[in-house]
Amino acid sequence: MPDLVQVRDVRRRFGDHEVLRGASLTVAEGEMVALLGRSGSGKSTLLHLMAGLDRDYTGQVCLAGQDLATLDDRALSRLRNETVGIVFQAFHLLDHLSCAENVMLPYAFSAAPRPPAAARRLAMEALSRVGLADRAHSLPGALSGGQRQRVAIARALCLQPRLLLCDEPTGNLDEETGEQILELFSALHREGLSLLLVTHEQRTSRRADRVLWLREGVLHAEAGPA
Ligand SMILES: Nc1ncnc2c1ncn2[C@@H]1O[C@H](COP(=O)(O)OP(=O)(O)OP(=O)(O)O)[C@@H](O)[C@H]1O
Ligand SMILES: [Mg+2]
Repeated sequence: MPDLVQVRDVRRRFGDHEVLRGASLTVAEGEMVALLGRSGSGKSTLLHLMAGLDRDYTGQVCLAGQDLATLDDRALSRLRNETVGIVFQAFHLLDHLSCAENVMLPYAFSAAPRPPAAARRLAMEALSRVGLADRAHSLPGALSGGQRQRVAIARALCLQPRLLLCDEPTGNLDEETGEQILELFSALHREGLSLLLVTHEQRTSRRADRVLWLREGVLHAEAGPA
């Protein structure tokens, strides 16, 4: 399988603090990779780079064979829209919009905007997928943490990405809800979606094809923390 993501020797610093110090990884088409590491090790930073949301790095980040540094903002947005769905560590749902409207947001910004009726139908499909069709008209504030997380996943899925990046998708969930979300990820994985899941939980990493540890700014295969 070709690589959907290639990160080569990436460095990212905030002021004096170099968080990524030559990080390299690949995610193959259809692969599920778990990314582990201590709090503050740079997992979210790395995810944002892979999603093309942060361009302030050295080294190379390629998505679907394209080096992100060679793309202007417009081309980068288009590639991101066509390729990546991201579920942020803090859900980033807009509280004044209903769940369905939150899920429809990416259509408004996509390179090929859908007519509202089509966008609404696709949003409803995505909400059904995460078991929340009946909450389409609720505001996020009226939902539990697990339900909000599922809305965020539906939004990430609505443009039918090839890669889903998730930042601690089950971190705030009870055992059973977390298990349901993991089942959903496994089903998406079986359908051929590539996933990169940041996690602290063994039950998540057990489902992955491969486990990577971020330590001292670089990635290590499998072995636990030093
Ligand atoms: N925008 C920013 N400005 C300054 N420092 C930042 C910024 N983003 C991240 N950092 C710093 O980079 C380091 C890595 O942060 P990051 O959020 O990537 O860690 P993490 O591995 O995701 O941690 P956690 O498991 O707690 O979510 C931290 O020391 C953090 O303070
Ligand atoms: Mg983080």
